[in-house]
Amino acid sequence: MIRKFLVFLFAIVILSGCVKKGEDVIKIGIAGPMTGDQAKMGMDFRNGVTLAVEEWNRKGGVSGRKIELIIGDDQRDPKQAVSVANKLVTQGVKGVIGHFNSSCSIPASDVYDRAGIPMITPASTNPQLTEKGHYGVFRVCGRDDQQGKVAADFVTRELKIKKLAVIHDKTTYGQGLADEFNKFLGGKAEVVYYGGIVQGDKDFKTVLISIREKAPELIYFGGIYPEGGLMVKQAREIGMTVPFMSGDGVIDPKFVEIAGAEAAEGTYLTFSPDPNTIPTAKEFIVQYTKRFGELGPYSAYAYDAANIMLKAIEAAGVTEGKAVMDKLHSMEFAGTLGNIKFDSKGDITVAPYVVWITKGGKFTEYWKP
Ligand code: ALA
Repeated sequence: MIRKFLVFLFAIVILSGCVKKGEDVIKIGIAGPMTGDQAKMGMDFRNGVTLAVEEWNRKGGVSGRKIELIIGDDQRDPKQAVSVANKLVTQGVKGVIGHFNSSCSIPASDVYDRAGIPMITPASTNPQLTEKGHYGVFRVCGRDDQQGKVAADFVTRELKIKKLAVIHDKTTYGQGLADEFNKFLGGKAEVVYYGGIVQGDKDFKTVLISIREKAPELIYFGGIYPEGGLMVKQAREIGMTVPFMSGDGVIDPKFVEIAGAEAAEGTYLTFSPDPNTIPTAKEFIVQYTKRFGELGPYSAYAYDAANIMLKAIEAAGVTEGKAVMDKLHSMEFAGTLGNIKFDSKGDITVAPYVVWITKGGKFTEYWKP
């Protein structure tokens, strides 16, 4: 009888242990445009973060607790981003990897800040994000004041352009990048056209025709690939052959797909150096391509952001937000793209932007400042 009781008791203990273990997960949010015209970026985020989390879970999780990912779809819409952020907070996430668009990350960061939850964006480059002074906001990418400067240096020093047109998509990122670029031109090239288009629009011919009349030697675009692709395609259709230049929001195979390889040919884009040339990225690239296919521009950034968040939680020994944020501020992390140390604002200390060129439908590194 006693033996039966002990066996029963033992079974209960084992079962309750299992239940507890199942429940005792650490939830991590991942937020970005999972649907809509920028869904490719959301997918790259998801793939990068998933790979990192699976690796941690295979090793037993973080301090013995498995990681569960909760996905939030902001559809690249700032209002949706706030509602996604509130939902992630309610669901009990201990950290967020996201968002993609600066226009989403900035308002969402207020929500995470109020809730005491750290966020690391893999891709939001607008300076305002980390200038707000939120202690728990970090980014593993560079900033548009760095990116805009490299673009302006390239245009004035390397291409020696004397007059150009600047277009943006009126978003925090697009307009912000266009303005930084403009600022760093420092009057060395004349801006003969400056104006915005509406994100989601499909026909830019009217604006391109008025730009054509001003005969710029280059068109600079601050925005993302859906509009960037259509713009370069339509510029070529109306006979404009001048170079097109943009930034990290455009450097994706989707840009070439939308524009067509011929129209995209020769497009200059600022972004970080080719991960294929970085030894520490090698193993990640092998694993990622085996599992998901070609790397997206921000796949490695998403992978690094997730690993950094999990390492900080592990080092803190608790999931309490302030303790994790302290670790994020004080530690140095080995990322696929190099070592990462955050400064007091939550920015990375080194952001080596370079210029890429589109050739035969592919992107290749072209110029270093
Ligand atoms: N770098 C882009 C942004 O900040 C994706 O919105």
